[in-house]
Amino acid sequence: MELSQRQLDWFAADSARMKLADLDAGVLPRHLAIIMDGNGRWAKKQGKPRLFGHKAGVASVREMIGSCVQLGIAYLTIYSFSSENWSRPKDEVSGIMKLFVEVLSREVVNLNAQNVRVKLIGDVDDLPAGTKDAFAHCVQSTATNTGLTLVVALNYGARQDICQAVRAIANDVADGDLSLEDVQPELISSHLSTAGIPDPDLMIRTSGETRLSNFLLYETAYTELYFTDILWPDFDREALLDALIDYRDRERRYGGL
Ligand code: IPE
Ligand code: IPE
Ligand code: MG
Repeated sequence: MELSQRQLDWFAADSARMKLADLDAGVLPRHLAIIMDGNGRWAKKQGKPRLFGHKAGVASVREMIGSCVQLGIAYLTIYSFSSENWSRPKDEVSGIMKLFVEVLSREVVNLNAQNVRVKLIGDVDDLPAGTKDAFAHCVQSTATNTGLTLVVALNYGARQDICQAVRAIANDVADGDLSLEDVQPELISSHLSTAGIPDPDLMIRTSGETRLSNFLLYETAYTELYFTDILWPDFDREALLDALIDYRDRERRYGGL
């Protein structure tokens, strides 16, 4: 892979540069999805409250955005809060919601400077007003950017998303606007909140858990999965390069030979 000065600056450590040189730009994922897990355990290891881990995890998000920008990856989807995460203790949930507001108001400038366009997937209507407004502002102010698309999954659950798609399609069938034969995989894709976004090529989950936890269940039919024991706040650009090198060596067959 031929490297620009900006890439060399971002991947400055010798070890990172060696990994980068090893990568083949031709087989980088177009769409990378990440289940950012392990913030709570990271904090616990240091005798700190769980929110301390969530705050530390923000640096890893920044690190991934910068890395995707430098590598020319087109889409990065991050699982930030699941439909099921409301079942956590109240103070953790409200702390996370407040953290979104703080981080977004601080980072909008950096996102624009990096030409990043932010999109949201998930049910935003149920978010606290402040969090909803901060995201709406961020989406609106980055809407015309043409570089990386950062898809933030917030109050997102794949089953819930599939349900709303099925409801909309059933409604069109009942109204006679669609026939039963029209219900094909592409039609379902076009009714999901990820409509228009290519399916993920690679999905990373940190923290040693090897499950999908209701993330992009329909879209990941042929996604390559990568699991690492690294806890999210420790996941850095070199850890990402390791995942990308692993992905480079995968053989994607899509059911063929
Ligand atoms: C992921 O870290 C962040 C969110 C789910 C919001 P966790 O909070 O799940 O951390 P662990 O899994 O308890 O260590
Ligand atoms: C998935 O992690 C959700 C996010 C990373 C936002 P969880 O920590 O909620 O998943 P489980 O409960 O371990 O399956
Ligand atoms: Mg977790």
